[in-house]
Amino acid sequence: MEKLLSSWSSTVKSLPESYVFPVDSRPGDTTVPFCNTLPVVDLARDRHDAVQQILRACQDYGLFQVINHGVDNGLLHDTMSVVQEFFDLPNEDKASVYSEDPSNKCRLYTSTYDYKNEKVHLWRDNLRHHCCPIDDFIYLWPQKPTRYRDVVGEYSLRVGNLSARILDLIREGLGLGPGFFGDELTGVHLFSANHYPPCPNPSLALGLPKHCDANLITFLLQDEIYGLQVYRNGEWLGVQPIHNAFVVILGHQAQVISNGNLISPEHRAITNSTSHRTSIVYSINPKPESIIEPAKVLINESNRALYRAFMFKEFLKSYEVKKDYNEGALEDFKI
Ligand code: OGA
Ligand code: NI
Repeated sequence: MEKLLSSWSSTVKSLPESYVFPVDSRPGDTTVPFCNTLPVVDLARDRHDAVQQILRACQDYGLFQVINHGVDNGLLHDTMSVVQEFFDLPNEDKASVYSEDPSNKCRLYTSTYDYKNEKVHLWRDNLRHHCCPIDDFIYLWPQKPTRYRDVVGEYSLRVGNLSARILDLIREGLGLGPGFFGDELTGVHLFSANHYPPCPNPSLALGLPKHCDANLITFLLQDEIYGLQVYRNGEWLGVQPIHNAFVVILGHQAQVISNGNLISPEHRAITNSTSHRTSIVYSINPKPESIIEPAKVLINESNRALYRAFMFKEFLKSYEVKKDYNEGALEDFKI
């Protein structure tokens, strides 16, 4: 537990060497402009408009923000608070979920699943657990704060429902049949809370380095502190926090299923020297044995499949072994 940033980061004045990123991947100047063309989709509007807007956003950016999404603002606030309270607990209260074993289905750890072997450590602590179906996993979740299980249970249910709603709009935009994104492609839900303490040197460190998400789709809730950046046309741009909005990010599997029509964007999290930042990622994943392949209705003589069929667990294995978390992760699956 002594490795957790929250155990020691406030006591150091300078960034330890093991957190310094190489010159070509460190942020350097952290004051990049916001991406002010990033689509903000209003789900209260007409369904047809939403389908078109989301399709465009997924083709151009692979990322958009969504407002009026129907998940109660009070619940968003409570979830963010309970997660922040969790990270603020004394170590003895967090010890029961601390684990260095990546196969644990609920665990608190720091940096990546491979702390021992990684070249540079990430400036983040992470609490991650499975949540679907809730009854199979809730007994593993933190018991403190006492309302954690109630609040995060409700959150998982609501964001799980929102994910089905958004995937249905994406499905319609792509011209796929009703029910396309069924349990096989969406059955594994992960709740992952990132805690980024103030960092002594944000220009040298990273909360999360440049990556694409390995999953199907991510719903990210951030507090009011900025830190998420997206890599677009060779430059980093900031994603401006919008109160009570979700940032929706497509993962590698969405790119494969859409045969490259939709993109999985490269993004990262930078740190800052003054404020704690918390982000809550709700990640929708296929089941391990599910077959991932370009949707058959999108493939024809003039649109050949760009990717071969594979099992999702095969992708995850290769992702871990290759340690290429960007576009290169799909290289072995291209035709
Ligand atoms: C992630 C991620 C960004 C953030 O957890 O995959 O990209 O802002 N997080 O915390
Ligand atoms: Ni990500």
